[in-house]
Amino acid sequence: MATQLDMTTRRFRAVPTGGALGCDIFGFPFGDFSPDDISAMRQVWLAHQVLRFRETAIDDDTQIRFSSMLGPFVVHPRQMQQGQHGRRGQILVISNKKKPDGTPAGDLGDGEVNWHTDTWFKERPPSASILRAIELPPAGGNTQFASMYRAYDTLPAELKKAVAGRAIHHQTVIDGRGDVRLGMTRPDNEDYATWPGVDHPIVRTHGETGRKGLYLGGSPKYQTIVGLPTDESREILPALWRHVGRPEQVWTQVWSPGDMVMWDNRCVMHRRDRFDPAAIRLMHRTALEGERPH
Ligand code: OGA
Ligand code: MN
Repeated sequence: MATQLDMTTRRFRAVPTGGALGCDIFGFPFGDFSPDDISAMRQVWLAHQVLRFRETAIDDDTQIRFSSMLGPFVVHPRQMQQGQHGRRGQILVISNKKKPDGTPAGDLGDGEVNWHTDTWFKERPPSASILRAIELPPAGGNTQFASMYRAYDTLPAELKKAVAGRAIHHQTVIDGRGDVRLGMTRPDNEDYATWPGVDHPIVRTHGETGRKGLYLGGSPKYQTIVGLPTDESREILPALWRHVGRPEQVWTQVWSPGDMVMWDNRCVMHRRDRFDPAAIRLMHRTALEGERPH
């Protein structure tokens, strides 16, 4: 087990954003980091939920090496997502770029991306997602992060009571933009509770910090609360979703070239602004295996 470096021996500078969550990391030694550096960085990450490494000037191989120090990679579900990197299977391309044949070269296009946590419809969603900016549009495409610890802590008492011990059924057919996922067929009924999917608890306990957070996944329109009559589900879910984006728990990342942001899907939701379709935005993402929400 690596020893933890304290504030005075850290080989990087950590400056909290001053917002609801997030911390800037300056001068992380990407060229020669040690297990101690990784362990010190992880502590800051667990405390602040999102890290932003500024002015990294790193390449794909360094992003992969850095990510691999944190745990096993998620192999991106090839059948369900666009954006597989041609040569490096650990990287998911998030971009509106097109291949020469006109098909998308990346995932998520140029539109708004609603609040979600990554691949919430999997049994074991990723713990960390690590997103690095390579090419940016002149404006737009900002990414917002919301603390689900704070969302849970500030949930009105009657909602807290209503969701205690409850789970959401997350169907796997329709994605966050309302499109049928690659390889899936839409069932010919609107009874989403019966669609293929996974159930995750609405209140989850973070496996490392032990803190409770709200866990809503994505695609709210198709969600149901397990074991509740549909009309009750339809009342509670929108109230939870309205609670997510409250400004007091949100921090906005305005990207600069070389920024790499690492968020914790166990306790953070994120969304993205749209940007000019005529501009190019190119990001490379790695993700690490996570625990089954409990
Ligand atoms: C993602 C994601 C938002 C963005 O990569 O999972 O949601 O800003 N990206 O591109
Ligand atoms: Mn995402």
